[in-house]
Amino acid sequence: MKPYNVVINFESGTLDPGKRIIRKVSDVKNMFYDTQAAEELIQKGDPMVYEVIYADVPEEQGHLGHCTTIIYPGKIGNEYFLTKGHYHEKLSTAEIYFCLRGQGRLIMESTDGDCEVLEMFPGSASYIPPNWSHRTMNVGKELLVFYCIFPADAGHDYATIEEQGYPKLVVEIDGKVTVIDNPKRKN
Ligand code: PA5
Ligand code: NI
Repeated sequence: MKPYNVVINFESGTLDPGKRIIRKVSDVKNMFYDTQAAEELIQKGDPMVYEVIYADVPEEQGHLGHCTTIIYPGKIGNEYFLTKGHYHEKLSTAEIYFCLRGQGRLIMESTDGDCEVLEMFPGSASYIPPNWSHRTMNVGKELLVFYCIFPADAGHDYATIEEQGYPKLVVEIDGKVTVIDNPKRKN
């Protein structure tokens, strides 16, 4: 293949040319604490929670995958709109998230059981080391847009997070972004 450009719009988060994946509430309902509130939102039109737009890169060792993620502002119950979250199938692979717009949080858990929450804001470049799962939330009132770079053969393991969730939830309490223990967390 030959070198090539894609163009990223920092405001809208579009990456062109790119392949767009859309996640609605019905696609991510099991990730939220208040599944009842998620069901109600699905009945009310099943709004979009986030989009990912991937550059066309072979999923092979040596290549770098890259994409933008756009998370819409919103909450389910008092929990901010979030991504599914995943470990990489190849656990030994890292990732960088570079925030272009909005206000977010990045929650990560390591295979050793450590949990960290980082702030995302325009200009923040968050390093996700090997062996750490990752999920993002939009805690602001506008779009959260960030650019991701990862080894193209890293792969996604969604099942672990879908089953166990994270030890912490990021919720709004009295209008403030608050990190609380996840009462549903098993183990
Ligand atoms: O590669 C990544 O970690 C990101 O591009 C995510 O895939 C993206 O932010 C969407 O999250 P998820 O894949 O957990 O649905
Ligand atoms: Ni990843």
